[in-house]
Order: sequence, then structure tokens, then C-alpha cells
Amino acid sequence: MTPEPTRPVRVPDLKAMKRRGEKIVMLTAYDASMARLLDRAGVDVLLVGDSLGMVIMGCETTLPVTMEAMLHHVRAVRRGARRALVVADMPFLSYQVSLEGAVRNAGRLIQEGGASAVKLEGGRPVLEVVRRLCDIGIPVMGHLGLVPQSVHKLGGFRPRARDEREAAQLLEEARELEAAGAFAIVLESIPADLARAVTASLEIPTIGIGAGPHCDGQVLVSYDIFGLYEGPRPPFVKQYARLGELMVEAARAYAEDVRQGRFPPPEEQA
Ligand code: KIV
Repeated sequence: MTPEPTRPVRVPDLKAMKRRGEKIVMLTAYDASMARLLDRAGVDVLLVGDSLGMVIMGCETTLPVTMEAMLHHVRAVRRGARRALVVADMPFLSYQVSLEGAVRNAGRLIQEGGASAVKLEGGRPVLEVVRRLCDIGIPVMGHLGLVPQSVHKLGGFRPRARDEREAAQLLEEARELEAAGAFAIVLESIPADLARAVTASLEIPTIGIGAGPHCDGQVLVSYDIFGLYEGPRPPFVKQYARLGELMVEAARAYAEDVRQGRFPPPEEQA
């Protein structure tokens, strides 16, 4: 049963869901129409991910996404969402340059975009930023494991924390993010056992993507699950529909009607 679209999901609700053992459902959204549909389906959290650089803008990485692009899409998603919590990704260079810049940019995503929270990537190097944003009332979702904004350093979009040293560091960083005030943490492309250990050691929820079934919630890129993105699809993605194929068929049918003079219909039938 999907939840009634009445009371909006708020940041503290996610921790309460973890306590009750209720799974958190998160999907990415980039525009008002998609947000409206996912909201109607009962999705708890809409992430305006910087994955929009790849699935909307056609770039090879998320790095070219700017604050202006994020704001444009966050505003659209905000207009479409009624019940779901809207979380905005902080794009590359919007929080790494200075504390002041991070506060200003996070503030813009909340004030101008209408997001309820921001997400940013990384552990130890961003703790001060997380602490500051949380202190001034901006809820922060962390993101550990495969952090796509570091794609060049990592050498590609590869699974992370396969060895003991990196796994121990990730567990430690998750605890530090929680202590700094993060309200949830995305765990991307890490072993399921590690995700289980992190989930068990935190009071805040973990949201997994390619991190196995033991996280408190799951997130996927909506264009991947609907079959709308033709670029490489990570192996953990489950495709729930082939909307891309349906769109091609529909566009072909329309083109054929136009070329054959069947659309618009002759005036007397219109
Ligand atoms: O940008 C994004 O869509 C994300 C999710 C994949 C977690 O960060």
C-alpha cells in the first residue's frame, strides 16, 4: 500500500522510520512532471541529483553541473512535489572551496530552490562544512563510497571499500558524519556486509545504491529504472520499465501520421 499523499515527509521522519524498521524509498527527480508522478507513487524522498549532468545534460560525468543548473531543476522538482522530502545535491566546487561559499550555496538551494535539505559527497574533508551547515539549520545528507565528483581520482565509476583499510575508514567517516550532524548517509557501490555494519552502527539512516539489502533505504537514478537513459547502466540497477522504447514507438507513430496526412485529422472530423 502506498502512503496517503497528505502530510509531507520531513527530515526527522527518516530517523523515525529507521527506528520503526520502515524502509525509506528515494529516487532522483529533475523536473516537475516526474516529481509529481513519483510523489503520487508514494516515494518518500526526491533527490535532485547532480546525476542530471549525465542523464539530462548528456555529459560523461557530474562535474560540469553548476549551481545555476541545480537551482533550475530544484525549483522545478519543488513545484511538482507535495508529500516527498526534496533533497538537493550540492554540485562540484559549490562546497569544497570555502566554508563561506558552502553556506551561501547550500542556502541558495534552500532559499531560492525550495529544497528541504542538501546532499554533499565525502567524509573527513567535508566534516567542517557539514557541522557548519547543520549548526545554522540546513539539514545535510552525506554520501560515502563511490563519490562520483571524485571520478578522476578514483579512476572511474568503480565499486569502493573492497579492502579492509578502506572499509574501516568508511565506517569511521560515517560515524564522524553522524557526529557532525548529518541526518542520513547515502552509501554507494560498497560491499553489502560493510553497508550492514555501517547501518548497524548509526542512529541515522543509511540509503544504499549498489550497497546491498541491509541499508535503511534505497535510492536509484529514476532514468535508469524507467529505461530512459541510454548510457552505461550500473550492474545493480533493476529496470522496472522500458519507457524509452515506448517513447520511440510513440514518436514513430506520430511521425508516420504527420507524413501520411493522418494528423491533424481532416477538418470535418476534428
Ligand atoms: O546524483 C545522484 O543522482 C546521486 C545518487 C545516485 C545517489 O547522488
